[in-house]
Amino acid sequence: MQKVTVSLKERSYEILIGKGASIGLSGILSRLGLSSYSPVVVSNPLVYKIYRNLLQDRLAAFKDVLFLSVPDSERSKSWHTISKLVRPVLDFSRDKSIFLITFGGGVVGDLGGFLAAIYKRGVPYVQIPTTLLAQVDSAIGGKVAVDLSNGKNLLGAFYQPRAVVSDIDFLSTLPEREIKNGLAEIIKYGILGKSKIFNILEESTADFVSWPAETWADIVLMCSCIKASIVEKDELDNKDIRIALNLGHTIGHAVETACGYKSVTHGEGVAFGILAESVISNLLGILSEVDLGRIIKIILKYKCLPAIKKGFCPKRVASFICYDKKAKLGISRFVLPKSIGETEVVSGVDAGVIAQSLEKAKSFVN
Ligand code: NAD
Ligand code: GLY
Repeated sequence: MQKVTVSLKERSYEILIGKGASIGLSGILSRLGLSSYSPVVVSNPLVYKIYRNLLQDRLAAFKDVLFLSVPDSERSKSWHTISKLVRPVLDFSRDKSIFLITFGGGVVGDLGGFLAAIYKRGVPYVQIPTTLLAQVDSAIGGKVAVDLSNGKNLLGAFYQPRAVVSDIDFLSTLPEREIKNGLAEIIKYGILGKSKIFNILEESTADFVSWPAETWADIVLMCSCIKASIVEKDELDNKDIRIALNLGHTIGHAVETACGYKSVTHGEGVAFGILAESVISNLLGILSEVDLGRIIKIILKYKCLPAIKKGFCPKRVASFICYDKKAKLGISRFVLPKSIGETEVVSGVDAGVIAQSLEKAKSFVN
């Protein structure tokens, strides 16, 4: 098992990565000083169907465990769901101290983490990410939130977990679409942080289903290292360092919102966003034609784009860009690739350039 430390003084924690990383869960929780607390697990029906018995076994050391389930959809990342979870948590915690375990993809991670942040002004929580996207990105760094109909993650907090347990075995049951979602964020890391990741993606077979668990463990490790080092330098996202992780997200989030959080997944929105934002960068003379070509090629190679064009009216997508949290004084800011391995933050991009890039990106969607 590999360990990555996120060094944030008293909020430091470890990311444990590997096949079977969650087997010793009770020991991990005990080392965190949580043995005398009672766990509240937040997950969804699909993840419970596959893994509830296994998790129950791994939590056998705890006398009382509350298992909570939220609907399996981005739409459940809402204030409404939080308000429904509070009552059972209140009842359960009447006579005991609790901590939360988020067990699932980024939706339950963000939602459960947000509940942990605000319940009684904060209770400890541990992330057990079960999707590729959550292992390489969302479970790390303490951004927890729910969505509003105007935009993604508009109610949220910075609240670091006590540990992240990324068990590669959980990835074996992911459908292909969910692996592609994770690949979109991995491509992002390849562009912003480590051209080595990009090279691996270029050299590997497009048939990712055949990749061995060791390859996934290496990729999760490399992405976790990049994310940890960025979060350490700019935990609260106010130093223009962490913003790099937003590559593809300004347009990606707008696409997700424009599609009502239904037909397009987060990863598909991000893939579309990386493509469109790379086109912007090229139109502005920042990204070379060669590197733009490499980025487009890799996104098409792994078929990361949304499968349908419905809801992609560029005017409508553009209208949601203004709600992006990275905007300053109402002016949107884009993280644009400069080359493979380097990004630049650019504000005040001309609306015509944005429209042109959205049209071009849309032309790649079937
Ligand atoms: P998700 O949580 O909806 O999970 C995707 C699907 O995979 C769901 O149907 C889920 O039930 C299923 N699933 C989960 N684990 C499984 C397993 N092991 N086997 C089979 N099926 C499994 O989506 P996601 O892509 O994991 O996360 C997307 C969310 O993450 C978005 O809300 C996005 O905003 C958020 N996000 C947050 C951050 C952050 O820093 N907090 C970063 C990136 C993304
Ligand atoms: N996913 C963006 C961030 O963690 O900052």
